[in-house]
Amino acid sequence: MNVSVIIACAGKGERAGLGKNKLFYEWDGMPCFVHTLNAFLESGLVNQIILTASEEDLNFIKEKVDGKATVVKGGLTRTDSVKNALKKVTGTIVLIHDGARPFVSKRVIEDCINAVKNHGGAIPVVPCRDTTVKADDQTVTEYLGKSGLYSVQTPQGFFTQSIRYAYTCAGDRVFNDDGEVYKEFVGKLATFDGDQQNVKLTFPQDFKSPTPEYRFGTGFDCHKLVEGRKLILGGVEIPHDKGLLGHSDADVLAHAIMDALLSSLAMRDIGYHFSDKDPAYKDANSMDLLQKVLKMIDQKGYKPHNISATIMAEKPKLLKIIPTVTENLAQALSLPIDSVGIGATTLEGLGFVGREEGICVHATATVIQK
Ligand code: CTP
Ligand code: MG
Repeated sequence: MNVSVIIACAGKGERAGLGKNKLFYEWDGMPCFVHTLNAFLESGLVNQIILTASEEDLNFIKEKVDGKATVVKGGLTRTDSVKNALKKVTGTIVLIHDGARPFVSKRVIEDCINAVKNHGGAIPVVPCRDTTVKADDQTVTEYLGKSGLYSVQTPQGFFTQSIRYAYTCAGDRVFNDDGEVYKEFVGKLATFDGDQQNVKLTFPQDFKSPTPEYRFGTGFDCHKLVEGRKLILGGVEIPHDKGLLGHSDADVLAHAIMDALLSSLAMRDIGYHFSDKDPAYKDANSMDLLQKVLKMIDQKGYKPHNISATIMAEKPKLLKIIPTVTENLAQALSLPIDSVGIGATTLEGLGFVGREEGICVHATATVIQK
């Protein structure tokens, strides 16, 4: 039996308060309605997909759908939108689904099709979690309880012929959903198990990420060791007969950490933001530049989560000084001391580091959404 699905996308999504149709809200590089479309495409259970779109969204939706489904114009109400789409349905069975329910699972789609085969019309339901009341003007008018009460989801499934007939009978009346139209004009409407995950994205809080996003970045820097310069690592001056050469104070550790932080948010690197041709950064204190980087990250809505860096230096021995450097960096980054891991190694006399011609640092950083 051929199965068609109508995905209703012709609303305005006003309650979400996003200033645009809620179905255009994107994650993983795709708008909500494309996630919904993909759920049906990937299920492999449907032969025809029809999306409804309002006049103003029609072109955008068509472009994103990219020939994978038919797009038809919706109406002022969801009832009107569905009625319009029903004209194009070719399947014996039709499922009707909200574009705003992108988390629909293959299990629910399959159960819906089977419920139609067994019962005719069927809707997915989940038991009400909370006691339900009717209220008016902030006063309870009736206690409905929760026993025997269910919330109704989509997809709702029907034999195409019956739901078309029901909608013909419906005239201009507006209904809560397709199941109600079916029940009114055709008859017995079955239920099957919905899914708590299959929420309809409706209010602003539905569009807030429940877990903060982490990002990861790496950074690398290297400076030449010369006589007559200070050796500064992580903002700490370290006694040594040589120091690092650079336009700024050449704090190679702070530089690698800044690069790792910037890279975690794809914000280029310190050379891009603080050019070594710019006289403003001549002899600059790199810990001041670190504060500027933290501000840039803050403006993107993130903060450092943890830092890990390895200093490659033949001399001086850094073992004793590392706790002081770690403490200084933790304070500058507003991180607990155990979120800053600084290590050091020699290169066993190999290469330019081994010949004490320079010091290198490799750093990694994770940042977390605030
Ligand atoms: N829908 C539709 N045609 C309409 C109204 C709604 O196709 N005239 C679709 C919506 O795009 C949505 C689904 O029906 O995917 C469920 O409706 P709802 O959650 O109420 O969405 P909106 O009407 O868009 O949102 P709001 O009521 O907050 O404006
Ligand atoms: Mg609505």
